[in-house]
Amino acid sequence: MKNLRSALLTVLFASLFAATGSTAFGQAEGDSVSARLALTPPMGWNSWNKFACDVSEKLIRETADAVVSSGMKDAGYQYVNIDDCWQVRRDAQGTIVADPTRFPSGIKALADYVHSKGLKLGVYTDAGTLTCQKRPGSLDHELQDMKTYAGWGVDYVKIDWCHAEGLDPATQYAKFRDAIAQSGRPIVFSICNWGVKAPWSWGPHTGNLWRTTGDISDHYDRMSVIGFNQNGLEKFAGPGHWNDPDMLEVGNGGMKRDEYLTHMSLWALLAAPLLAGNDLRSMNAETKEILTNPEIIAVDQDVKGTQGHRVWDEGPLEIWVKPLADGGNAVGLFNRGESELKITLDFTMLGITGPARLRDLWKHQDLGSQQGFYTAEVPKHGVMMLKVSM
Ligand code: GAL
Repeated sequence: MKNLRSALLTVLFASLFAATGSTAFGQAEGDSVSARLALTPPMGWNSWNKFACDVSEKLIRETADAVVSSGMKDAGYQYVNIDDCWQVRRDAQGTIVADPTRFPSGIKALADYVHSKGLKLGVYTDAGTLTCQKRPGSLDHELQDMKTYAGWGVDYVKIDWCHAEGLDPATQYAKFRDAIAQSGRPIVFSICNWGVKAPWSWGPHTGNLWRTTGDISDHYDRMSVIGFNQNGLEKFAGPGHWNDPDMLEVGNGGMKRDEYLTHMSLWALLAAPLLAGNDLRSMNAETKEILTNPEIIAVDQDVKGTQGHRVWDEGPLEIWVKPLADGGNAVGLFNRGESELKITLDFTMLGITGPARLRDLWKHQDLGSQQGFYTAEVPKHGVMMLKVSM
């Protein structure tokens, strides 16, 4: 019965997409959102979580240097994104002007510098009249601003939703999609309207990623509420278009190691964009290890592009699964409770009846072949991240 229902739904969706001229990824053929730009979730860094308005070309240059010297670039981090507060006014032609004190060389010179390191530059604006920090927004300057960014060599734009009263997000963000296409430069388009009016329903044919919630903060409670509430949104994500549960707080100091492991594991299972939000110039070995663990990043960046979902929960315990391109599954055993607890993975949750091979992805350790079940002791607020293969 369940199978019949899902077969019927598939047919219904297929005919719906056929009727609107869309592909299976919800990419309407007439649309110009460039899915090819973000075939896997974007990875990089953003200034907001740590620095808020304290941004400058010095910070961005030093961060770009640190992305390379820390090994973040080799781990896959690519975008260096300036968030709010870089812009101060418009000139007589209406062109946006960067803060001359904080960015004396201008954004083009900064883009050139970031590119010289083999990295890419992102900027931030707002769909309304003003940004959240009351800098000029892009309303009625959509095409002009995207052309300006393209001329500077910008590779990524995040567009916020403050001071946008009375605007319809689907309509307003589509203007930016079209403006980016007209600019002629491939620019990743990050929609930031905090989940208002279900961006997952129009986001896939508008941008490359869309925020699904309000802002994260560097606290376990906030991070976990955001992360564990993403269940159900997996059907809207795929190569070129991703749900965005907000940027990383790893290394900002407000969470314990196990909590940051939960943060990073959950974001990887969610195929979330991985935008570090800490000070990369001074991060310690523990933070670097969490942000650059290649086996966790491989889960996030898996080419199948399937967002994981919850398969089981009981009290404070949750099990999440992300199917991978090689036929294996990434599995997170999460303990949201206040003391260490045992969690048992029953392989039938993964559709596996016989034995399975297990690997601990944080520890880089094979756990051998197991029959039917696997039980782990998971610390308070912690996680066991496994790869389970037949
Ligand atoms: C918020 C946004 C944050 C950050 C901030 C800047 O609306 O969600 O990620 O960009 O604005 O003012």
